[in-house]
Amino acid sequence: SEPLRLGIAGLGTVGVGVIRIIRQKAAQLEARTGRKVVITAVSARSQKDRGVPLDGYAWEADPVKLATRDDVDVFVELMGGADGPAKESTEAALKAGKDVVTANKAMLAEHGQELALLAEGEGRVLRFEAAVAGGIPVIKALTEGLAGNDITRVIGVMNGSCNYILTRMENANLTYEEAFAEADGLGYLEADPELDVGGIDAAHKLALLAAISFGTQVKFDGVQLEGIGRVTIEDIRQAADMGYKIKLLGTAQMTGRGLVQSMSPCLVPATSPLGQLEGGTNMVVLEGDHVGQIVLRGAGAGEGPTASAVMSDVIDIARGLRLPTFGQPANTLKTTPSANSGTP
Ligand code: NDP
Ligand code: HSE
Repeated sequence: SEPLRLGIAGLGTVGVGVIRIIRQKAAQLEARTGRKVVITAVSARSQKDRGVPLDGYAWEADPVKLATRDDVDVFVELMGGADGPAKESTEAALKAGKDVVTANKAMLAEHGQELALLAEGEGRVLRFEAAVAGGIPVIKALTEGLAGNDITRVIGVMNGSCNYILTRMENANLTYEEAFAEADGLGYLEADPELDVGGIDAAHKLALLAAISFGTQVKFDGVQLEGIGRVTIEDIRQAADMGYKIKLLGTAQMTGRGLVQSMSPCLVPATSPLGQLEGGTNMVVLEGDHVGQIVLRGAGAGEGPTASAVMSDVIDIARGLRLPTFGQPANTLKTTPSANSGTP
């Protein structure tokens, strides 16, 4: 059969990781999908050395032009940003009849419903496994593995940088400022660190998981949100004395009053799986009415883990698996009242 031709916009941590996998695993990808998976064109802001060979790929400075090229079947958006070039090129790709794979949680949390409707209207696929909890295949767990269940609750630690800071405060007796500076020095924080420590990045991910879990429209502004900036070493000591740890914990649950989503520093028993989650790792706990509780744990960021998740979407498309963006058509997603948005 015909090769699947990718256009990749964004050659940073994740984009380079995707290129590495495709170059290293050409034979395995063909064996696993029944067709070749090839890159035809790439885009970034500058044409600097990326540590991976780019020969054989056309260079396209403008991501919108890349997204609409005749020799691209799937547009892989790895630039980031809720708006701007990421959204413009994603829309252009869908309108030009391309499928889209993205890792962009900010864009999906802000514009997911609109983009999913556009994809469906155009008969295209828009997938984003890498956008939630990096390497953990939590979206596929929800939309495929647990599709026979009604999901009753989703809980998780979904921001590795915050978990790293809290763990260092706990284990090395660092102040918040010291642990923050350490995480920053190691390159763990987003360019705008407030996205991490303000809980916004984790809330983006929670809002996406909630929409998938409960068949509702993405409601990022319905997340009750508090970051970790006010957690002190004294809080952590007092929690430890009572047998607890403090984690930036997300919870999404459907109640009689609607969807409740919260992302805030919470006490968790020190001996529980969540309490024992250290460093930059993520953990997502899913509860289904038939399966009970499932715990997924793994790397929520980084080149290899995030590229692994991007590739799972590319491979689904190569195999002809054309699931809707949120696991069900976007025009059937419920506009549920949000219990914490003042709705009675
Ligand atoms: P980086 O900042 O490392 O890379 C971004 C890339 O996009 C760069 O190559 C940059 O070009 C390119 N870019 C930015 N703006 C434009 C533009 N206008 N036109 C063309 N290219 C552009 O980001 P990451 O790889 O870390 O992240 C990519 C996406 O993946 C984001 O949405 C992020 O939230 C998401 N993600 C990242 C994870 C991670 O661990 N890093 C984990 C999960 C999701 P140049 O290099 O020339 O500046
Ligand atoms: N800043 C994010 C984190 C990156 O720390 O988890 C992965 O989404």
